[in-house]
Amino acid sequence: MKKTIVLKVNPQKPEKEKIRSAADFIKKGGLVAFPTETVYGLGADALNPKAVLAAFEAKKRPLDNPPIVHVADIKDVYKLAENVPSKAEKLMKELWPGPLTLVFKRSSIVPSVTVSGLDTIAIRMPRHEVALALIKESQCPIIGPSANLAGRPSPTSVEHVLEDLNGKVDAVLDAGPTYIGVESTVLDLTVSPPQVLRPGGTPFEVLKQFIKDVRLNPVAVADREVDVEKARSPGVKHKHYAPRADLVVVEGKLPAVFNKVRELAEIYAREGKRVGVLATDETVAGYEVGVVKSLGSRSDTASIARNLFRLLREFDAENVNVIVAEGIPMDGLGLAVMNRLRKASGYNIVKADED
Ligand code: TXA
Ligand code: MG
Repeated sequence: MKKTIVLKVNPQKPEKEKIRSAADFIKKGGLVAFPTETVYGLGADALNPKAVLAAFEAKKRPLDNPPIVHVADIKDVYKLAENVPSKAEKLMKELWPGPLTLVFKRSSIVPSVTVSGLDTIAIRMPRHEVALALIKESQCPIIGPSANLAGRPSPTSVEHVLEDLNGKVDAVLDAGPTYIGVESTVLDLTVSPPQVLRPGGTPFEVLKQFIKDVRLNPVAVADREVDVEKARSPGVKHKHYAPRADLVVVEGKLPAVFNKVRELAEIYAREGKRVGVLATDETVAGYEVGVVKSLGSRSDTASIARNLFRLLREFDAENVNVIVAEGIPMDGLGLAVMNRLRKASGYNIVKADED
């Protein structure tokens, strides 16, 4: 066990000496959890194989699931990647820093463990002053897998990071809650047309404004378990985002969703289970059974994205046995939210309209 130091920093104007002490750990091969606009990341020097391996170990992450490499300067992309296409240059110019990860062919300076032996590398520039300051001060690209134990919901605050990684990292930069709440969109530029491997903080609609021909990988929108061999993004074959309780997602239109969630909650409660209901502002007052929490308003999917992982962790703290969640429309950030909810449920999905 290490003693984890918590450094409270100003999210807009991070104090230099705190960034310097965090960067000292990174330079020495240590681990520092840091805020980004999406979720907290578990930072280590991306070019130091021992440090990268230590990050995998701290998270108990399978070695075949590579992390995202974070940079603070577009120039660094050309050191880490080869054949950077002009499409990427446009996206980096328009959407970085921001919640968009780009997958390129990797260069030979990247250690094999950093990319799990693949010939590609996932890179992004986070839109958070603390993350950018840490990368600059460390003078190296920094890996940033989400700072949670593998399989658990990603951390949107330092409390979540410490729940999972206290004593396993050297320091945590605490800049308060993250802004977006779901991870970055992962876009594979090594295939033509480019494919979204993981929907995230940059909505698909926004990508389409900058590159005409862009597709959603079927895995990204799957509503059932997919053939892992077909899964291009290594992360998709592992259990993800899961609370300890069983989770069932009810999809369809209102009011069918509301009626089905009520019905399921009542059935589970009658079976003697402690039930959690993941509702929305529009429906929350109508549920009478179980621990009921609202994700936010259906007309504001950004608020739902911000709350999702925190609420999944809160249900664990309430010791519920089963969570019944309302599905939401899959536009804007709704696509990322539904991707996370479906995976968290292990594709335990009920279609409300179909009976
Ligand atoms: O918002 C985010 O992206 C956060 C913050 C901390 O930046 N990070 C994050 O990292 O979510 P992680 O490691 O939890 O997720 C990385 C995702 C996984 O789905 C992984 O499979 C995919 O990126 N990935 C990494 N390298 C890849 C590659 N070479 N090809 C395809 N997918 C890759
Ligand atoms: Mg993760």
